[in-house]
Amino acid sequence: MPPELSPGLQALRDHSEHVLGRQLPPFANASPPLHAAMCHTLLGSGKRLRPMLTYATGHALGAPLAQLDAPACAVEIIHAYSLIHDDLPAMDDDALRRGLPTTHIIYGEAMAILAGDALQARAFEVLAGDPTLQVPPATRLLMLRCLGQACGAQGMVGGQVMDLNATGKMLDGAGLEAMHGMKTGALIRTAVRLGGLVASATESELLALDRYASALGLAFQIRDDLLDIEAGTEVLGKTAGKDAAQSKPTFPSVLGLTASRQRLDQLAQTALVALDNLDADTIQLAELARYTVSREH
Ligand code: IPE
Ligand code: IPE
Ligand code: MG
Ligand code: MG
Ligand code: MG
Repeated sequence: MPPELSPGLQALRDHSEHVLGRQLPPFANASPPLHAAMCHTLLGSGKRLRPMLTYATGHALGAPLAQLDAPACAVEIIHAYSLIHDDLPAMDDDALRRGLPTTHIIYGEAMAILAGDALQARAFEVLAGDPTLQVPPATRLLMLRCLGQACGAQGMVGGQVMDLNATGKMLDGAGLEAMHGMKTGALIRTAVRLGGLVASATESELLALDRYASALGLAFQIRDDLLDIEAGTEVLGKTAGKDAAQSKPTFPSVLGLTASRQRLDQLAQTALVALDNLDADTIQLAELARYTVSREH
């Protein structure tokens, strides 16, 4: 449990763990290694930032907790798939994730690719079909579309392609922000937006939430880049120093440590100011913004 979480956020994290544990029942006809490979990363020790964001957003705008389970889980399931694929030899080639050997190290490359594929499909199945989510069909369709956009070519996958293309090259600050905004920011924005949609947020509320989440999403990846340099492998649960070893353009490599930290503080402020435009109990969202920029792993 990350020590820096408040009791309220810890309760959301515990709840996320509990409901995620129910999302991958042993599927009929699925081969046992596929199921085990799907569970390996999803049920490992993640921070659960994205589900916490969905719950905290919905809570701020008055949605009941149970109504937020499906979108919170769907986003975390997509995230788990993205981690499995990010670690593959053809991508970042990482052997450690969430403190354990990566999925392809344990189950082989083909099974890791297929487990990622199956997790992606499962996320949409959960969001489309979970009976506890009771929103109008048009809202549900909007939520599905929003998730599709966030993880596809205009979002996470598009950003991962930019990351691969940029490896060994230099990007300027704007190029880095565009890449980070897609590879990491898109799914984080969607985690927040889905919470807002469950709570029937107005257009202006959705706009304020999007400003908050855009700043937080970018800050999250800048903090990830900094931790890759500043933290140790054991604390991170993934191989430290990977970005420099692979010549990835990152905030610290392009702008330096001081400017990266300053940008992080600026983004935290932007996220907090965006919350001022919401007439809602945004304490947990503010806590999550502060956690994002100060987390130690
Ligand atoms: C790691 O995400 C990948 C990035 C988008 C930087 P997290 O740092 O949220 O990983 P977990 O979920 O805690 O393992
Ligand atoms: C990954 O970014 C973003 C994803 C879409 C998974 P990184 O490659 O920096 O994530 P880590 O450092 O391996 O967790
Ligand atoms: Mg990567
Ligand atoms: Mg990586
Ligand atoms: Mg990283």
